[in-house]
Amino acid sequence: MSILVTGAAGFIGFHLCKKLLEKKFKVIGLDNLNSYYDQDLKRSRIKELNDFSSKNGLNFIFIKVDIVNNSQIKQIFEDNLKSKTKITMVINLAAQAGVRYSIENPSAYIQANIVGFSNIIEESKNYDVDHFIYASSSSVYGGNKKLPFSETDQVDHPVSLYAATKKSNELIAHSYSHLFKLSTVGLRFFTVYGPWGRPDMALFKFTNLILKDKSIQVFNHGKMTRDFTYIDDVIESIYLLIKKLINKKIHKNIQNQAPYKIFNIGNSKPTNLEDYIKAIELNLNKKAKIVYEDMQPGDVKATYADTKSLENEINFKPNTSINFGIKKFISWYISYYKKPSN
Ligand SMILES: NC(=O)c1ccc[n+]([C@@H]2O[C@H](COP(=O)([O-])OP(=O)(O)OC[C@H]3O[C@@H](n4cnc5c(N)ncnc54)[C@H](O)[C@@H]3O)[C@@H](O)[C@H]2O)c1
Repeated sequence: MSILVTGAAGFIGFHLCKKLLEKKFKVIGLDNLNSYYDQDLKRSRIKELNDFSSKNGLNFIFIKVDIVNNSQIKQIFEDNLKSKTKITMVINLAAQAGVRYSIENPSAYIQANIVGFSNIIEESKNYDVDHFIYASSSSVYGGNKKLPFSETDQVDHPVSLYAATKKSNELIAHSYSHLFKLSTVGLRFFTVYGPWGRPDMALFKFTNLILKDKSIQVFNHGKMTRDFTYIDDVIESIYLLIKKLINKKIHKNIQNQAPYKIFNIGNSKPTNLEDYIKAIELNLNKKAKIVYEDMQPGDVKATYADTKSLENEINFKPNTSINFGIKKFISWYISYYKKPSN
């Protein structure tokens, strides 16, 4: 069975491809390796996947492609059809991520997250894939005051363009589920962190700056909480959802309704940013030089996932502690970079 994963050179995509390969799926990974952050890190992730699959006789194909390029995307589906290995599932993780950058470069978000997303879901429908899974985000909850955030809460007030594109993805997916009975599952990730993580996110940035003796900027004067979610928990959740989809145990008994679902994937244990920084300091055995700043436009003060729906579906709940997760990240960071990254 073939699974196509977009954003395969990205943080979550890399870990997911590795898990799917371990479980003996044929994986086709797509990514344009763009320069939003360190391209060497993206290339290293792909090298790791190539090495892992060739060492273990597994089936991984990487294609460098921009999901905005519709004719190339069509061609990938067409070529695959000719090779008689039907793509049964598509997992769309490619996107322009990051809330703050969406204010600087809105067009990157419209291109990758709207045009690119539309291309991938349209070809998934045209080539008759069984299931379409895609990354949404906790940012769709905007400044909602009711905590924890539940999938049934209203999410009509995005506070960044990034959030607006993710909410749009959910709406587009619903229309495909309704019109074409395409089985879709949207995943609202809550601040994912861990080894091979993203250089634009707090844990990576803080670790790098603390090691270089530079100061770190802490927004909203540290008065922020995040539902930090460890990567292995995210991957296990996605894998268990995939298994259920394959066994046709999601979207059952829906007859005339759209086969459409959304799940929060979060730790359900919000942590103060200050406590998160303390855990980094503890693991680095070094104090941070903190510069407190005002709230950034587009940011939200708190995120907190209600994961009852996920638990009911897969009988699993993300629950890795911050201390364990940060320790894992820092030991990966030190062995990967040997010294602070540039
Ligand atoms: N990491 C998190 O905390 C988090 C939280 C919420 C949602 N998400 C979403 O999860 C998904 C994966 O996030 P991530 O943290 O792995 O981010 P990432 O930036 O590491 O991965 C995204 C990958 O997509 C690729 N990409 C971007 N635009 C592309 C395009 N037009 N064509 C082909 N490839 C393209 C990038 O090169 C990158 O490798 C994204 O959709 C992101 O918005 C992540």
